[in-house]
Amino acid sequence: MKARIEELRLSFKAALAECKSGAELEEIRIAYLGKKGHIAELMKGLRDVADKKEAGQLINGLKTEIEAAIAEADEQFKRAAIEAQVRSAKKYNPTLVTERELGSYHPITLATREVCDVFLGMGFTVENFDEIVDDYQCFEALNIPKHHPARDMQDTYYLDNGQLLKTHTSAAQNSIMKKYGAPLRAIFPGRCFRNESTDACHENTFFQMEGMMIDENISISNLIYFMKTMLSEVFQRDVKVRLRPGFFPFVEPGFELDINCAICGGEGCPSCKNSGWLELCPCGMIHPRVLEEGGIDTEKYTGFAFGLGLTRLAMMKYGVKDIRDFNSGSLKSLSQFKSI
Ligand code: PHE
Repeated sequence: MKARIEELRLSFKAALAECKSGAELEEIRIAYLGKKGHIAELMKGLRDVADKKEAGQLINGLKTEIEAAIAEADEQFKRAAIEAQVRSAKKYNPTLVTERELGSYHPITLATREVCDVFLGMGFTVENFDEIVDDYQCFEALNIPKHHPARDMQDTYYLDNGQLLKTHTSAAQNSIMKKYGAPLRAIFPGRCFRNESTDACHENTFFQMEGMMIDENISISNLIYFMKTMLSEVFQRDVKVRLRPGFFPFVEPGFELDINCAICGGEGCPSCKNSGWLELCPCGMIHPRVLEEGGIDTEKYTGFAFGLGLTRLAMMKYGVKDIRDFNSGSLKSLSQFKSI
């Protein structure tokens, strides 16, 4: 019996040394510890042994040895399996550049930044202003009293409390004059709203950029100089412009500055209402009443103001034929602009 136990101990060790997988280990376990395995066989053989106690202890010793060895080997195979899984998995690499869809700037943002840069270079500050204003800011302070026919052109959206969505960036003029006094050089880009039927060149929501310069001896020639400099910088070429007289209650004299339509080259197209020209920048010398309302000494100071159509400018600059594309939220058209 002793010899048989020793023989099994050696054969088990040999089998374990050869074992390469969890499945093989299970086969060994069944062969030795299973119901019909070698240990069970030894137990059966006990019947014919004289010293049952000693033999029983020896068999149990071998059984415990085999159980422990199998448990340890099993543990090793499991650990190896996990390590293999980790090794074969795609490694996380924080520096890896993956393909991502990059967003792009809205063309209005690009145009705004460009115009701001030009004016910043000429000593203007850039001001932020509200979209919700009151009647005084949008009209009264700009020499447009109630029942003035000029209000017809600027119907807008009114809030229950009497405030309104600003119809033009000029609504900030009064506040900015009061804030800084004279001399003053400021531009203020902003979103404007009007009750408007939409078509290829009209929108109910659009962007303007207002500019104001107030100082001693400011004249129309200063106005023309700044407008021309700005436009040729933005378009990177000499832009054809024309000045027509234009009426706005808050400027005197007032002008319409038109630029040659860049989409059709002046031939006439829906974007320019077939005229070859696009109204881009109404402007003029600030009306003395408006200056007074802003607390500016009209004996000493004069100034000019302009209301650049930023949305129109972006249409010209990027060849956008339909103004409605800007607010469409269509990634197809908007993603064509510079990536971030
Ligand atoms: N605020 C005017 C408009 O939107 C434009 C304008 C601005 C005219 C400044 C003259 C001076 O129609």
